[in-house]
Amino acid sequence: MTDRVDYTGEGLDEADLAPTPYEQLTRWIGQATAEGVRAAESPEGLALQFATVDSDGAPNVRTVLMRFLDPRGPGFITDAGSAKAREIAGNPRVAASLGWPELFRVVRFRGVAEPVEAQALADYFGQRPWGSRIAAWASRQSAPVASRAALLAEFDRYAAQFPDHGSPDDVPVPPTWAGFRVRATEVEFWAGRSSRLHDRIVFSATGSATVAAIDGGGPGQIPLLDDPAAWTVSRRQP
Ligand SMILES: Cc1cc2nc3c(=O)[nH]c(=O)nc-3n(C[C@H](O)[C@H](O)[C@H](O)COP(=O)(O)O)c2cc1C
Repeated sequence: MTDRVDYTGEGLDEADLAPTPYEQLTRWIGQATAEGVRAAESPEGLALQFATVDSDGAPNVRTVLMRFLDPRGPGFITDAGSAKAREIAGNPRVAASLGWPELFRVVRFRGVAEPVEAQALADYFGQRPWGSRIAAWASRQSAPVASRAALLAEFDRYAAQFPDHGSPDDVPVPPTWAGFRVRATEVEFWAGRSSRLHDRIVFSATGSATVAAIDGGGPGQIPLLDDPAAWTVSRRQP
C-alpha cells in the first residue's frame, strides 16, 4: 500500500456553494475537464460509477461514461439487455458517483433511473465512429461469449452487413441501444481537506420527492437539479 496522502483540496464552504445542485455540478465538471487538469491527470474526467440492485437485493456497480447532462440528471448509453438494464427494470433505485481524485472531489447521487428518449439515443448513435456502431450490433452486453474470436466473428459479420461509406446512416440503430439518466433525490458534494476534515455538502430534494413519490409516481415526480426551491442543503461530518 502507498503512503498516506493528505487531501489538500480547496474544500467547499456554504458561502461559495452554488444555489442549485446543477450549478454546483457543472461548475466542478468545468474545472475538472478543463484542458490542463484533464490532459495531465484524468483522461476520462466524465467516468461515472453507476450502481444498481439485483433481484436478490445485492448491489452491483460498474463504470459508464456520462454522455448526457441536463437538469434532469447525468445520463449514459448502454445495452438494453445488459445486467444493469435488467436490474433497473426490476428496481429503478440507483446510485452513482463522479469523481476527480486529483482535485480531491467527488459528487454522489442517489435516486431513480429514467430511460433516455429514443431520439436523443439515435442522434448520439449517428455521431459514433463506424467501428463503435458495428460493435453495438456485435456485442450482447453482459451475456457469456465463448471466446474473443467469437466476438470478433460477430463484428466481422455486421461489418460486412453495414459497410463503412463514411455516413452516419451506414449503420442502423440497434434495437438494444439504450440509455438511462439518474434522477437524483440526493446529491452530495464531497471535497477532501487536510487532516481528514473533509467537507460534505448535501442537497436533498424537498416536498413530494419522498420515497413514496419515487415508488408511486415515477422519476417524473423528482425535481429538476436547477430548481432552487426544490432542494435543502445540509452538511455531514466527514
Ligand atoms: C472508462 C469506462 C467507460 C465505460 N463506459 C461505458 C458506457 O458508457 N456504457 C456501458 O454500457 N458500459 C461502459 N463501460 C463498461 C462497463 O463498465 C461494464 O463493463 C458494462 O457496461 C457491463 O456492465 P453490466 O454487466 O453490469 O451491465 C465502461 C467501462 C470503463 C472502464
